[in-house]
Parts: sequence; C-alpha cells; structure tokens
Amino acid sequence: MYSFTGITALVTGASKGIGRAYARELARRGADLVLVARTTEALEDLAAEVRTTHGVRAEVIGLDLAAPSGPEALVDTVARRGLQVDLLLNNAGSGSAGRFFERPFAQSAQSVALNVAALMELTYLFGRQMVARGAGGVINVGSTAGFQPMPFQASYAATKAFVLSFTEAVAEELRGSGVRVMGAHPGATETGFFDGTTAKMDPRVTDSAESVAVRTLDDFARGRTASYPGRGTSRLATLVARVMPRRTVTNAVAALNRKLGLDVVADLP
Ligand SMILES: NC(=O)c1ccc[n+]([C@@H]2O[C@H](COP(=O)([O-])OP(=O)(O)OC[C@H]3O[C@@H](n4cnc5c(N)ncnc54)[C@H](OP(=O)(O)O)[C@@H]3O)[C@@H](O)[C@H]2O)c1
Repeated sequence: MYSFTGITALVTGASKGIGRAYARELARRGADLVLVARTTEALEDLAAEVRTTHGVRAEVIGLDLAAPSGPEALVDTVARRGLQVDLLLNNAGSGSAGRFFERPFAQSAQSVALNVAALMELTYLFGRQMVARGAGGVINVGSTAGFQPMPFQASYAATKAFVLSFTEAVAEELRGSGVRVMGAHPGATETGFFDGTTAKMDPRVTDSAESVAVRTLDDFARGRTASYPGRGTSRLATLVARVMPRRTVTNAVAALNRKLGLDVVADLP
C-alpha cells in the first residue's frame, strides 16, 4: 500500500473547495505540501493550519495557472525553493455553465487554459522529472462530466473529456516506470464552483469535498488508475453513458440541466 507519509505533494487549486480538502487530507496522512492557487492569503491560512495541526511543511505559491507562462513559472519556483514534487495533484479547474453562445467566451477559454493546457503542461514538466527519478505520482482531477456531452456545460464537459482520455493514455505509457498516474472523477460536489453566477448545485445529489478527498487518496494508495470518489449513482451514470446511444445521452443530460436551471445562467452583479 502506497504511503503519503513524508512525501511532498503539490496541490493546485488548494485555496478552496475540493483542493483545500485534498491538502488537508494529505497533511493528515503526513505529506508535506506545496499549495498553489491565485488567492495567496487563503493558501497562507491553510498552510498555517496544516503546519500547526499536522506538523507538516507547507509552502505557498500564488500564481495564475491559466496564464500561458503559469505552469513553467510554477515549476521554476518549485526548483528555486529546492523542492522535489513526489505527487502532483492537478485539481485546479473552472467551468462555464449556461448556453454556450450566450455566455462570455472568456469563461470557456479560461477553462480550456486551466483544465486542459495547464494540466497537460504540469503533467509533462513534473512527470518528466519523476520519470527521470523512476518514482512519483500524478492525480488528474477530471469529473463525471467528462464521460458524455453536456448541453449547458458544453465547454466544461469537453475539457473533462480531455482529462479522462489524456490521463488514461499517459497512465498506460508509464506503467512499470515507477511513476503512477490516476484520473479522479468526482460527481457533483458541494463547493463554490458556481460562485459568481446564478447556477446552483442540487444539494440532494452532492457529495462533500472531504469525502471526495478521502476516497480519491484511498484509491491512489490502492494503486488504481481511475477513481470515482462520489456516490454510487454518479459512477453508474458514467457506465450508462458508455452503452446508451450518444444522442439519447445528450438529450437526457440537456433535460436534466434544464431542470437544474443551467440553461438560463447569468453572472451575479
Ligand atoms: N464541484 C464539483 O461539483 C466538481 C465535480 C467534479 C469535478 N470537479 C473538479 O474538481 C476541481 C476542483 O473544483 P471545486 O469544485 O473545488 O472548484 P472551486 O471551489 O471553484 O475551486 C477551484 C480552485 O481552483 C483554483 N483556480 C481557479 N482558477 C485558477 C487559476 N487560473 N490559476 C490557479 N488556480 C486557479 C481556485 O483558486 P483561486 O481562485 O484562488 O485561484 C480554487 O482553489 C476542478 O477541477 C473541478 O472541475 C468539481
């Protein structure tokens, strides 16, 4: 069984939501942390908390990973501070909800820059270092959204389809190399993901960020290449999406998202 004790884990998007829960759970399991996001103050608070509560080391790096130079700047900063990343947890992600043609294009572009480009570049840059050492791990956070097209979350679901495909492929390329890669695919999780918009999660079907973090790390420790850390029904939906005709699945998701009001999303003032 893989042990997190004494490793250095870099968590992107650690300032809130699932990323903060991953950071806390990794610290509880004895990992030193490198915490990354744009909101440095929240990261500093979290770093102070885990140092006191769990006696681990915690470094803070505040930067914008969606900027073209963001991933390289992160790798350079890590090297300048003399750190070695044993586990990369690519969690930072954003997404636009609503009708694709009625929402600001910048939101979809940002989501591709962060969920796709930054995730891929960080996997490449840190992954190559791990391959050279013959040891390390990468967890890429996808979503059950990546298993089918999602009208009213069109670009977001497409970024997560990339995460799913890319992660499974590189995991196989690295089999036997000493470097393990796993995709984590949570279902709807209670976070501030839709903050700043009128979109809301349905509280009856959301999981907590804490339970998602625990289950993801348990699955990685067990050596899995894919983790479904949400409730059983969200995993089941990914299986159904694989066997039903794509048109049927797309229509069903559209109906569900209309019911959730995702077809009429607006930004809050
Ligand atoms: N919540 C869900 O229902 C759900 C379900 C399945 C999968 N997921 C995935 O889980 C991951 C975490 O989602 P969440 O719900 O925890 O979202 P969240 O609460 O909105 O947190 C997103 C995190 O990403 C960081 N981030 C956003 N843009 C960034 C940028 N340009 N550069 C660096 N960091 C950035 C944010 O920090 P700053 O704003 O401080 O930069 C924050 O720490 C995402 O990949 C998401 O797609 C979420």
